[in-house]
Amino acid sequence: MFDRRQLIHAALAAPFACALPAWARAAKPPANAASMGRFIAGLPKAEFHVHLEGTLEADMKFALAKRNGLSLPYADVAAMKRSYVYHDLPSFLKIYYDGMQVLLTEQDFYDLAYGYLRKAASQNVLYAEMFFDPQEHLKRGVAIEAVIGGITRARGDAAKSLGIESQLILCFMRDLSAGSAMEALDAALPYKDKLIGVGLDSDEKGNPPEKFAEHFAKARAAGLHVTMHCDVNQENTLEHIRTALLDLKTERIDHGGNIVQSPELMALARSRGIPFTVCPTFSGQVIEDGRPINALRQMLDAGLKVSVNSDDPAYMGSEYITEVLIRAQKDSTLTPAELVRIERNAFETAWIPAQQRDGYLARLKAYAQTWGVTAG
Ligand code: ADE
Ligand code: ZN
Repeated sequence: MFDRRQLIHAALAAPFACALPAWARAAKPPANAASMGRFIAGLPKAEFHVHLEGTLEADMKFALAKRNGLSLPYADVAAMKRSYVYHDLPSFLKIYYDGMQVLLTEQDFYDLAYGYLRKAASQNVLYAEMFFDPQEHLKRGVAIEAVIGGITRARGDAAKSLGIESQLILCFMRDLSAGSAMEALDAALPYKDKLIGVGLDSDEKGNPPEKFAEHFAKARAAGLHVTMHCDVNQENTLEHIRTALLDLKTERIDHGGNIVQSPELMALARSRGIPFTVCPTFSGQVIEDGRPINALRQMLDAGLKVSVNSDDPAYMGSEYITEVLIRAQKDSTLTPAELVRIERNAFETAWIPAQQRDGYLARLKAYAQTWGVTAG
């Protein structure tokens, strides 16, 4: 039992300990799993590869279905989550597109985006660039104003209330027609001030990046940035990476792990400082001659600008960026310095003004110093 004096001492000491300046705290790099977990949890982070519709958690699906008078073919949240079984991109996409049918109103998109941003802010994500798939919503008769409007309102509220900044990337669904993607782009361009870029997602098989050359050119002419998925182990993946880099002049590649199989493409990406948004949960392993290669480890070792991201966390065991980084640290034996480097890569390649970038980089540096870690 504590006596009264001990309790008073503890009460006084606790806030004082938290308020100690960085230089007064012991600067010791994480040395075991528990301190590594704390180091990763507190690390200032950025996220660039998260599909907002892929953050639609099962409990929110039930809440939105109820609000919109829809019924779902599952008894409860647990039964729905048990149905999230997939073995490749098409089987994943089927579950993912089925899931988003409950998103109908501006408020639904607000709730979706605010929910993700609240979770991300709780994990020390300072800044996020988030994908969305407007074609799937337009197809269901949802107006683009509701989609972009709801997400934008959530971004504003999250910045004010949670201190997390974010921007929005419109993705073309590559397995739908080029015409459908152009309709979505044309519908969204009046709101281009609410967007930072365009991307390319969905099923890559038979849908090479050049199918959208005109779309990327139009988006670029409107002042938007350009990124594109090159999913791992896809048919003609190295050709797609080459086209994305050389012909379409992409500024970033989402996934892109197979690049480790081409020294020539790696040299090109390195020389252009192309960032890669790796999502180890879904695309960590490149398969070569039937054997897995750890893409993240090899990309880092090759000096590529890699960041680590969560992709579709609601469908991937509800593992958000902290859990993804903890898993990646173990699977790829990431050192504390490499973890700092990964976040430095992310902040350095974010589509933000220099002043904002400098602020994030200064926070990252200060955090690393409190742990006695220098970025590798
Ligand atoms: N849509 C949502 N997640 C995706 C992914 N990882 N690859 C391609 N399309 C997607
Ligand atoms: Zn993705």
